[in-house]
Amino acid sequence: MRLGNIIVFVALCSFTAYYIYEPIPEEIEERWKLMLTNSFFRGLSHLADFSELVGLTDYMGVMYFITLAEKVVPVSDENVKVTEEKFDGVEVVVYQPKQRGGDTELRRAVIYLHGGGWCLGSSRMGPYDLLARKMVTDLNAVVLSVEYRLAPAHHFPVPYEDVYSVVKHFLQKGVLDQYSVDPGRIAVSGDSAGGNLAAAVSQQLQKDPGQQVQFKAQALLYPVLQALDLNTPSYQQNQDMPILPRTLMVRFWSEYFTSDKALFRAMMANTHNNPESSSLLKFVNWSAFLPETYHRKYNYSAPAVVQGVAGQAVGIDGPAQSFADPRASPLLVPDTALRSLPKAYILTCEYDVLRDDGIMYVTRLRAAGVEVTHEHYDTGFHGALMFTVWPTDFLIGRRMTHNYVEWLKENL
Ligand SMILES: *[C@@H]1O[C@H](CO)[C@@H](O)[C@H](O)[C@H]1NC(C)=O
Ligand SMILES: *[C@@H]1O[C@H](CO)[C@@H](O)[C@H](O)[C@H]1NC(C)=O
Repeated sequence: MRLGNIIVFVALCSFTAYYIYEPIPEEIEERWKLMLTNSFFRGLSHLADFSELVGLTDYMGVMYFITLAEKVVPVSDENVKVTEEKFDGVEVVVYQPKQRGGDTELRRAVIYLHGGGWCLGSSRMGPYDLLARKMVTDLNAVVLSVEYRLAPAHHFPVPYEDVYSVVKHFLQKGVLDQYSVDPGRIAVSGDSAGGNLAAAVSQQLQKDPGQQVQFKAQALLYPVLQALDLNTPSYQQNQDMPILPRTLMVRFWSEYFTSDKALFRAMMANTHNNPESSSLLKFVNWSAFLPETYHRKYNYSAPAVVQGVAGQAVGIDGPAQSFADPRASPLLVPDTALRSLPKAYILTCEYDVLRDDGIMYVTRLRAAGVEVTHEHYDTGFHGALMFTVWPTDFLIGRRMTHNYVEWLKENL
């Protein structure tokens, strides 16, 4: 009996230790809190794998619990008027400053795109709701938080196209008037996969013939920007980092395009390139675009190009080929397509698989003559901006939010 209790106790302890323990770099602040937070994410991920294995639900179906757990109903408060609307059929949560007496000044606007790997997340999550309110009050801005449809139910290009439809609808003279928005002071912004969508719509909008109103600024928070090379130094260095390990990012990428696991396996091995996509590898050549300090420890070798019978990478065809589409991988455009982009704010974190995507975009935009503010957090980890609410509130998340909104204040 006693022995039985001890065995159960030891088993529970080792189980807990297994989930909590992971090599988190010393430099990261509030390490224990991050370990605990991450043990929840890891536990859920294992449950999701198991659930998919036994055929209960697909992996993302279980991971979606993260979104549900943080859901709120966005409601108006004394400073902010909140409405749920549809722009061209797409759901949008609209946050507006409450009109003050005699205030007829035109306002700024921010179109915000939430993160979650195109598969998870919602504008109606607590941290996004808080961020939107902060932007409204600090910037006297109208904030649109776009509820684009998600993969795997809606693969690429649906999430992208939902965002583009909202942008096109909102940037019409008549609509801007309705919300008292200054057409010269509109920004697009997003974190992680939302940063990917923000970068992609910025590129497409500037080459849209007949589009009169353009963005004044784009603010990309630890964005995902390319799917060609999933072995950049940051992918290698941070493959087991909390919140977004490499396997999860590869999972998000592959699920964005297809539910066929062949793409996931090829992306894990970094052998998903085909002859067509490999001609674009020059745009994500990290040995050319990263500062010396980041590639000293790694030797560059271009990702393998594996060909099958039909000249395609093995097992990858149809929609899975879209990973080289610049609407999915905004880094894959030539310099000429970058030149006239709006000024940019790019946030990167040292301990993030996506660090090098962001840094390469900084290098390439600057080389093309675009004004870029690059804020790199030496102790930052992916997703930190989402951790501003107790009990998973991190000081670094608050600092990032503050600096980001300050940049908008000065540049929008
Ligand atoms: C990447 O850049 C290096 C020089 O920095 C060059 O030697 C190499 O050929 C390039 N590779 C590709 C695929 O562009
Ligand atoms: C990179 O290549 C050089 C020369 O081939 C080799 O000496 C070095 O050990 C390699 N570095 C890494 C990190 O693989």
